[in-house]
Amino acid sequence: MLPFLESEFGNPNSIHSLGQRARYAVERARTHVAELIGAEDPSQVIFTSGATEGNNQVLSSYPNGAVSPFEHSTVREPAAAFGLELLGSEDLLIIPPKKPFELISCMTVNNEIGTIWHPGQLNYSAEHVHSDITQAVGKIPIDLTNLSFATFSGHKFFGPKGVGGLYIESTAPKVLFFGGEQESHVRAGTLNVAGIVGMGAAAQIASDELDSSYARAKKTSEHCS
Ligand SMILES: Cc1ncc(COP(=O)(O)O)c(C=O)c1O
Repeated sequence: MLPFLESEFGNPNSIHSLGQRARYAVERARTHVAELIGAEDPSQVIFTSGATEGNNQVLSSYPNGAVSPFEHSTVREPAAAFGLELLGSEDLLIIPPKKPFELISCMTVNNEIGTIWHPGQLNYSAEHVHSDITQAVGKIPIDLTNLSFATFSGHKFFGPKGVGGLYIESTAPKVLFFGGEQESHVRAGTLNVAGIVGMGAAAQIASDELDSSYARAKKTSEHCS
């Protein structure tokens, strides 16, 4: 990461060699992040400023959607702002919706009490399922099966702050930031190269250490239950 703060000032969208070195580093980071979250192809990962941005982008695309009652404020508040419904709950179970939605959003690991849900297995009538996987990445294996979208932040697996990703299975959500062709036209704006490279390095380490991190998380969970 440090060379991209000290001397490697290229913009990955520039065609000169300095730019292309930055592009190479960004794509390498994309591969490491894709591997950590279990994406089939690195191109399914879009770099963002973090989970807040990704959550806003996904939820703003599907006003005919619903969110679980256990979500972080970065899902709950945009859901309210964009007119999505809030699902009910019984203890820590989500009450299945009685009507179909275009999108259901359910986090994978809760940020307060660590409860784990399996959004891809909910089997609700929804065209798309989104999961905020922020608290799961690097701690438990991620299962992207049946998910259209997943969102996360690099700093939760010891990358730098202010950088994260949006996983897109196949159909991109609506554009939130217009004005540039970066990130396959899904997210305009010059890439945060140093942040992305730092997150890529953190992802590589997190993948290598996933077995022990998962074992530690399970032990903590058993201790607390
Ligand atoms: C579950 C969850 N979602 C989203 C966020 C927001 O992340 P960021 O502030 O990096 O965008 C957090 C941050 O704590 C979180 O725990």
